[in-house]
Amino acid sequence: MRYLITSALPYINGIKHLGNLVGSMLPGDVYARFLRQMGHEVLYICGTDEHGTPAEIAAQEANKPVQVYCDEMYQVQKEIYEQFGIGFDYFGRSSSPTNHKLTIELFQNLEQRGFIEEKSIQQFYSSSDGRFLPDRYVMGTCPYCDYPKARGDQCDGCGKLLDPQELKNPYSSLSGSGDLELRDSKHLFLLLNKMEGPLKEWIDQQKDWPAMTKGIAYKWLKEGLKSRCITRDLSWGIPVPKEGYEGKVFYVWFDAPIAYISITKDAVGENYKDWWSCSADTYYVQFMAKDNVPFHAIFFPAMLLASGMDFRLVDYLKSMSWLNYDGGKFSTSQKRGVFLDQALRLFPADYWRYYLMANIPETDDADFTFAHFADVVNKDLAGGLGNFVNRVATLVKKYSPHGLVAEYLPELLKQDVLRLLDDYTQSIYALKFRHAMEALRGLWKLGNSYIAEKEPWKLVNANPQECVSVLSHCVYLIYVYAVTMYPVMPESSNQLLKALNLDLDCVQQVGQNFENLLSSLPIPVWALQPEGLLFDKISADVISQLMQDFSGTQN
Ligand code: MF3
Ligand code: ZN
Repeated sequence: MRYLITSALPYINGIKHLGNLVGSMLPGDVYARFLRQMGHEVLYICGTDEHGTPAEIAAQEANKPVQVYCDEMYQVQKEIYEQFGIGFDYFGRSSSPTNHKLTIELFQNLEQRGFIEEKSIQQFYSSSDGRFLPDRYVMGTCPYCDYPKARGDQCDGCGKLLDPQELKNPYSSLSGSGDLELRDSKHLFLLLNKMEGPLKEWIDQQKDWPAMTKGIAYKWLKEGLKSRCITRDLSWGIPVPKEGYEGKVFYVWFDAPIAYISITKDAVGENYKDWWSCSADTYYVQFMAKDNVPFHAIFFPAMLLASGMDFRLVDYLKSMSWLNYDGGKFSTSQKRGVFLDQALRLFPADYWRYYLMANIPETDDADFTFAHFADVVNKDLAGGLGNFVNRVATLVKKYSPHGLVAEYLPELLKQDVLRLLDDYTQSIYALKFRHAMEALRGLWKLGNSYIAEKEPWKLVNANPQECVSVLSHCVYLIYVYAVTMYPVMPESSNQLLKALNLDLDCVQQVGQNFENLLSSLPIPVWALQPEGLLFDKISADVISQLMQDFSGTQN
């Protein structure tokens, strides 16, 4: 099977936080690594989402031209994901020439086929800022609750959705100036309403999608699809190729999803249609947080269908709920939470990868706290897995100095392992990550129970042969762990394989299922070099220090 995988393209405007990582890129990477292990052909695509007002504002704040800011931030983000072990086949940019070209082509198809309409709308123009203001940059007093700092799109006081025209005493949040004037401006609208039938039919077919994804899609369909503005009065973005549209660009949510396709083209060249054509033999899976679902389940599919351009729609849309921070929200603008550069300075990537996957907000929101993080690392990684590996390494050195024996696992243990391997495999195929992680932990538990039951330290005098045999089985289990944990903790997997004297490639050559691991010894004689602790326990002192350092917002 060939799998095309995309993770929602992160906004360019700053370093992302743990919530962003677990909401799209990390599960995408775990899935991609697993599928490659199973021998499937995979293309895993991502990149930065570079247009829109947030990019402009972030550049302004950094005192840099937007292009320069984006070039730099692209590099910074790319490196951070690499350090987290996110193995994209290609990490591109929505601002690439390829995306400019494809966006325009797609727009022209939509226009020719009658899906675009021109309308004049009123917008606030700020003379002091010299520009039209996007809704959320108009602030003022809420007409419903008198909250003085309501945004033009929504009031944070009472939660009501607003039109900027409704605000009392409107002013620009950019300059603070109240010198605003309503001006007419021409814009282009995508006639989503025309696509309602085909979209509903398509979504009805998605029987196996997560309930959350379908719930959001149906909510939109039920409310009725309205035409949606796809142009903006901005200078940064993809210019609208139409007379009278000088100084206007496409709405960021119009060109960003198209970038999935153009980045694929940047990655593989003209063959990109092998992945994207409706007739291509590919299974396309998208990863994203739930706020992105309307764009991926409604807006983008509508664009593709209406364009008539033979681009395939997503086959499976995996959406994640929120990871909250200490009972509140992670927030980039308020600098609240743990950001990816900070996280990497605190602990190795695999600690985060494991913790986040074990607590992925798959159905409900999840809550991050340092206390919980430390608890999970200490119990599962240092305790469950790390403890077993270290114990076995020490025992092997002490009781089996002449090496181990090449022996398959005893039948009972083997059956238990097989059951969990199957559970693990099926869960990842079904994109049920929490369940998959439970199976992984189950495998680690088997090792700990086996060694506790056999007590090899007691066998060493009575039955030295049996002692070596038990320890060999334990090492066999460690081999199974090293290979199966690879999608989640690639770095630690490599460390274990090295300690086992195994070729690192063996994680990639598992074959069609993990069961093969139990019927093919990779080398005739095992070795296990005590490599020292795989995972360190996090002490209570460190936790309380972290809770102090990361309380509230940071500078
Ligand atoms: N940048 C958006 C976000 O972080 C996601 C864009 S996904 C794409 O919420 F499809 F538009 F690229
Ligand atoms: Zn209000």
